[in-house]
Amino acid sequence: MSEKAASMLFSRVKESKDQLSLGLATGGTPQGTYEELKKMARETKQTFTHVKTFNLDEYVGLSEDHHQSYRYYMNTHLFNHIDIPEEQTYLPNGMANNLDEECRRYERLIEENGGVDIQLLGIGGNGHIGFNEPGTPFTEKTHIVQLAQETKQANARFFEDPSEVPSRAITMGISSIMCAKEIILLVSGVNKAEAFSRLMEGEVNELFPASVLKTHEHVSVIVDEAAAKRVN
Ligand code: GLP
Repeated sequence: MSEKAASMLFSRVKESKDQLSLGLATGGTPQGTYEELKKMARETKQTFTHVKTFNLDEYVGLSEDHHQSYRYYMNTHLFNHIDIPEEQTYLPNGMANNLDEECRRYERLIEENGGVDIQLLGIGGNGHIGFNEPGTPFTEKTHIVQLAQETKQANARFFEDPSEVPSRAITMGISSIMCAKEIILLVSGVNKAEAFSRLMEGEVNELFPASVLKTHEHVSVIVDEAAAKRVN
């Protein structure tokens, strides 16, 4: 699964002569993809100097060097292992003094760079994409979110002390995500089986954020057997 996703991203990096904008995700699911991607880069000496990256989200209140910040995750899982200039790797700044202004700045930044060419996505057990929790209007741009209790619980496994999981995050909105020209959704593991069957068999509804992807014209879904077991 990770190899497939990494090859799709890697071939785009290889083929792009000009700038390529990758939309990137964090969480447990894409770790294998980044592992494969950096292996491919190392073995072929492929350059990433023409690539810009825009991450989906960042916790509010965690500094760049906090081990659970998404900036730290991206640096350690990918950026430190490829030749992409740091100033071409963007995440929302969860430490900004004015968070509303930061949301507008991030949205503008993506637009000014011509939008995301290819967006990698995971999915939450409750169907969230980025940190867009159930009930988020599909029209939302980058905004601040209050994390659902189940999302905090799910992410507590990455924190030494579960009470340290931040309550808020900045996330690209559903409308920002849908502007990507192409989307790759990764669904992995038995605890995503219900979400995957809701995605495949349910209707498009704001109460299940990932369902919006059915209305995008270029989405690939890469799923493993465990996550697909409830779908015929
Ligand atoms: C996290 C992230 C999402 C991610 C999802 C699933 O909270 N904000 O971008 O896709 O939840 O995470 P995991 O892959 O660890 O199951």
